[in-house]
Amino acid sequence: MKYKDLSFLERAMPTDWNPDDWLHRERERHLEELKDFLRIPSVSTDPAHASDVARCARWLRDRCEEAGLVAEVHATPGHPVVYAEWLNAPGAPTVLIYGHYDVQPADPLELWRNPPFEPVIEDGTRIVARGATDDKGQMYCHVKAVEALLATSGTLPVNVKMIFEGEEEVGSRHLDAYLEENRDRLAADIVLISDTSMFARGRPMLTVGLRGLSYVEVHVRGASHDLHSGLFGGGVANPALGLARMLGGLLDESGRVTVPGFYDRVRDLPESERREMAALGHDESALREEIGVTELVGEAGWTALERMTVRPTVDVNGLWGGYTGAGAKTVLPAEAHAKVSCRLVPDQDPEEVTAMLAAYFRERCPAGLTVDVDPHHGGVPFRIDRDTPELVAVSRALERVWGVAPVLGHSGGSIPVVASFVRLLGLPSVLMGFGLEDDRLHSPNEKFELENYWQGIRSAAWALIELSGGR
Ligand code: BES
Ligand code: MN
Ligand code: MN
Repeated sequence: MKYKDLSFLERAMPTDWNPDDWLHRERERHLEELKDFLRIPSVSTDPAHASDVARCARWLRDRCEEAGLVAEVHATPGHPVVYAEWLNAPGAPTVLIYGHYDVQPADPLELWRNPPFEPVIEDGTRIVARGATDDKGQMYCHVKAVEALLATSGTLPVNVKMIFEGEEEVGSRHLDAYLEENRDRLAADIVLISDTSMFARGRPMLTVGLRGLSYVEVHVRGASHDLHSGLFGGGVANPALGLARMLGGLLDESGRVTVPGFYDRVRDLPESERREMAALGHDESALREEIGVTELVGEAGWTALERMTVRPTVDVNGLWGGYTGAGAKTVLPAEAHAKVSCRLVPDQDPEEVTAMLAAYFRERCPAGLTVDVDPHHGGVPFRIDRDTPELVAVSRALERVWGVAPVLGHSGGSIPVVASFVRLLGLPSVLMGFGLEDDRLHSPNEKFELENYWQGIRSAAWALIELSGGR
């Protein structure tokens, strides 16, 4: 690895540093690059896209090099990690930037206005493509921010290390081993991640809590083969009905999870934080409208925002079995299946909850049926202390760029690797997101606001400046 010849005479940024001219002058190129990034179908879950994922990693490495970092593609037993660094600020803090270049599958394809991997700018305001907000658009802000700083000032105010993984959407299977193997090389003072949402349009948010995840697949089996429902119905247990009964029992009348032990480790939010959340003015009717539901429902005694961010839940993510084709078929199916997941909050433990779920299904399995519960990847919930100096520093950066102090809020989503950063590297993550509630991540017509792309680049640059602790 060899650094490009750059002059690093002065680390501190001039107080009037302003990337706007540079950003504006080359905005077409910055947009074209994001489009090129989005054109690569780096769908991590689909083996048919493995070579696209690998190509995407090489593409990203090359852009990092062009930005002025030293970058490499590191193989793992799964999809590769792109590692990039710039370490020419001796004595200054080191910021480890994380993002993921893999994306969710694009289906159902017929619901997209344009093909998912042919990015289109709509209304001149947003870019539509799979991965636009999750996470290509957001993570690319950091590459561009480093480029902006180096191009306009010749230096960075801090040391920067970047890791971009290709397996986030499939549970970051090989990242823990990668972090352990590269512990020394990844040494840093703080992790900085853009893979979350803003509180609302124009209202930035630092996410101080993420939910964890426990995920199982449930297989219920009855007879050894499908049966004629006229000849056998009424005398043989129906796996689909048995599964439905067990799934229906997961929540009680008040919306609480019935799995024994589920709430044992749940740490309640301090009243002060509940009051703060209530004062944020979450717009429930706008949310109803956006997602097209008549009513928001859930656990009694908690606001919709609380239920979706700081309370644990259970959901059925998929359900199949029996005849689902056209017309009617009078069959008593031999098996039925479901994917079931729980969002977790501190101090719930994913493995413990997975065991509780398995026990729930075993104990409730109706007579005449058998049940198998197979665990998938999980994730440990995350909280960062609101007083963490680096969080405060990034908050100043966001206020400078957006003209308003960020909300310190919780998000209901999961990024399992943030708990690994704590456990394996001893580092908290500052979660500075540029997504919006209506970005449709994981869904057809995913988009990223161009305003958030430009502001995200500025925010990422100013975050590094504020994190330098100088000036
Ligand atoms: N970036 C999302 C998580 C997210 C989105 C957090 C918005 C906060 C706000 C991430 O890519 C994701 O989709 N995570 C998965 C978990 C993973 C194990 C598949 C999730 O939350 O379902
Ligand atoms: Mn993501
Ligand atoms: Mn995602």
